[in-house]
Amino acid sequence: MAVRPVLRMGDPRLLNVAQRVEAFDTPELHELVGDMQNTMRELSGAGLAAPQIGVGLQVVIFGLDFNPRYPEAEPVPYTVLINPELEPIGDEMEEGWEGCLSVPGMRGVVPRYKHLRYRGVDPYGKPIDRTVTDFHARVVQHEVDHLLGILYPMRIRDMRTFGFTAELFPGEEVADD
Ligand code: NI
Repeated sequence: MAVRPVLRMGDPRLLNVAQRVEAFDTPELHELVGDMQNTMRELSGAGLAAPQIGVGLQVVIFGLDFNPRYPEAEPVPYTVLINPELEPIGDEMEEGWEGCLSVPGMRGVVPRYKHLRYRGVDPYGKPIDRTVTDFHARVVQHEVDHLLGILYPMRIRDMRTFGFTAELFPGEEVADD
């Protein structure tokens, strides 16, 4: 299992719509998930989508114990989510800071649904069906956006909130990617 290079904003592969996974519990799928897991951990990410390592499949991983990039965030269980479907619960949206391994060194304030139901399957094809809120809901919406070719800066409403982490949070111990 390898740490793979993460594509950065500007690479056209990040703008593609990802394909559904059709075969589960295969060596190829397990290898992809393992590579994503190693890459996310190496870079202290809270999530990673397959297109970010150049694989156009509907696979995302996310999870957070304590993460120096998100020191205030609540824990999110480590999850591999394949062929996800999102269903916002209600209309309530919340603005919050986001970063992305494909947009290193930057942060921006992005609106996301506060309450979310998401469904999909794990690498064995076993169903996942959760209703979540707040940071957990935000992470899932961010990662699933990658499968649609959407990067978080495209969703920022007030571009004055978009900038370099070191300038936005001077003196704070926030990782720079
Ligand atoms: Ni991202």
